[in-house]
Amino acid sequence: KGMCAGLRVHAFVFSRTSIRERVKTKLLINRREFLQKSSLAASAFATLPTRIWPYSQASVPALDPNSLARFVDPLPILPVAQSSAARPDPTNSAVQIPYYRAAMRKFASKVHRDLPPTRQWGYSSNVPGPLFETRKGSGLLVEWANELPARHFLPIDHHLGGAEIGKPEVRAVVHLHGGKTPAESDGYPESWFVPGKSAICHYPNDQDATLLWYHDHAMGINRLNIYAGLLGLFVIRDSAEDSLNLPSGRYEVSMVIYDRMLKRDGQLDYPVSENSPNPWVPEVFGDAILVNGKLFPYLDVEPRRYRFRLLNGSNGRFYHLSLANGEVLHQIGSDQGLLTAPAPLRDIMIAPGERVDFIIDFADHAGEQIVLQNDAFVVMQFRVSRKKTEDPSSLPSTLTSVPRIPESRAVKTRTLSLDEYEDDAGNSILMLLNKSRWNMPVTENPVLGSTEIWEFINPTDDSHPIHLHLVKFQVLDRRRFEAFAFQTKGEVRFTGPVTAPDANEMGWKDTVRADPKMVTRIIVPFEGYTGRYVWHCHILEHEDNEMMRPYDVIAEP
Ligand code: C2O
Ligand code: CU
Ligand code: CU
Repeated sequence: KGMCAGLRVHAFVFSRTSIRERVKTKLLINRREFLQKSSLAASAFATLPTRIWPYSQASVPALDPNSLARFVDPLPILPVAQSSAARPDPTNSAVQIPYYRAAMRKFASKVHRDLPPTRQWGYSSNVPGPLFETRKGSGLLVEWANELPARHFLPIDHHLGGAEIGKPEVRAVVHLHGGKTPAESDGYPESWFVPGKSAICHYPNDQDATLLWYHDHAMGINRLNIYAGLLGLFVIRDSAEDSLNLPSGRYEVSMVIYDRMLKRDGQLDYPVSENSPNPWVPEVFGDAILVNGKLFPYLDVEPRRYRFRLLNGSNGRFYHLSLANGEVLHQIGSDQGLLTAPAPLRDIMIAPGERVDFIIDFADHAGEQIVLQNDAFVVMQFRVSRKKTEDPSSLPSTLTSVPRIPESRAVKTRTLSLDEYEDDAGNSILMLLNKSRWNMPVTENPVLGSTEIWEFINPTDDSHPIHLHLVKFQVLDRRRFEAFAFQTKGEVRFTGPVTAPDANEMGWKDTVRADPKMVTRIIVPFEGYTGRYVWHCHILEHEDNEMMRPYDVIAEP
């Protein structure tokens, strides 16, 4: 804890959330507010954060989304990205591959019929950005152009690493999350570029069919750029998946779910701490839940099977989704592709950065209206038409094979702690991976082609979704341990049995929940490329405040 001298390790100071409570938490609460609300302090509401807001008057009050009419906007179907040209493949100039250009721009769009347009930043002026569609092994090039304004409209914290005073306010760099991408195209957080500049990235897509997503990754302001709207989906297909005859075409719907705080004038709000000049807050939970950019949308469906591909693109909110009529969702895939068999679930848990691929069969529900909910909160509605239609699609009982990697294949086990530090007032102020700041020398340096076990020791009260760039991995297990002994003596004392991953975590993953007071183990084949990548917590406020580390994939010595 050397570098954090003077700071207490965040331990039992407050028993904040169980993960379940957290999913239920409606509106977001920074730690200090929580302390105030949960302590005997009388004036819990006297210190709500003040807001710096160039787009919207500071005096405009917060919007209560429940005051709006529900199901008045259709769910937007994402526009598909169109390539503008072909250019030589950088690794084989004899081959031409599609070339796309996506410009990040400021624009405004309505998130609800009865609100004025919301100013946002989007790729190709869309939030979520255009949907990239490609196939395994079909590489493509994207020119990501920064055409954003020179000033940011969300509260930058200049105390965070990478966002110091003197750095340009508006910086952007794009990462393809889940992509097996060469390091120079992976969107390294420090490889940002300013308005007027662009970067051309090469995505070889040499990987199995799945849903990836692209998003901003600029050091120190990533949470703000994504909150502003810089995120989008990227689908890879392959022949193995084609042969399954899953619902496709208009019966396959891609969606991004994310939460925002809105003001009554429809503008985005992002909370700041009362700790100025350090506006950073440890988590943001908005009470407006948007799907593909709309609040409470509805989708007209036919009484047949549909495939839904869903990303949790929220900064920090976990969802616990279910259908209000109790109907089963059949999860068929996770972050990095199909599960071996459909997992019938009454509810699906999804952490920031994770994707779920699931089938809903509306066949027995002609004429009904079915709500998709997050615990008790309404998210969207499916309106099933009366007219019976043909359903030539299938839901096979076997989807693919995902051979479990034997632990014996691992050449190394890395034990990595997830740490939170707070100041004397109990404000969470810093989060680290393995007690190391971003700027400290690289400590994780797997050899290309080797397999390692990474175990995440989480003594904190938060569930941290941990993501590694470049690779896909399998979740081995989780096991409860005693946080106090770990924090005081560095000992890992298990207090519970080894628990297997959930059925929907048995496929390939790139993001895993490291649950509170648990050791979570993953096994990772480091395949693809050598070079510098990153691994981090996908709660964006954590990632921006040091919960991110570089790692190197090195050539066999
Ligand atoms: Cu969604 Cu560094 O990634
Ligand atoms: Cu990533
Ligand atoms: Cu975290």
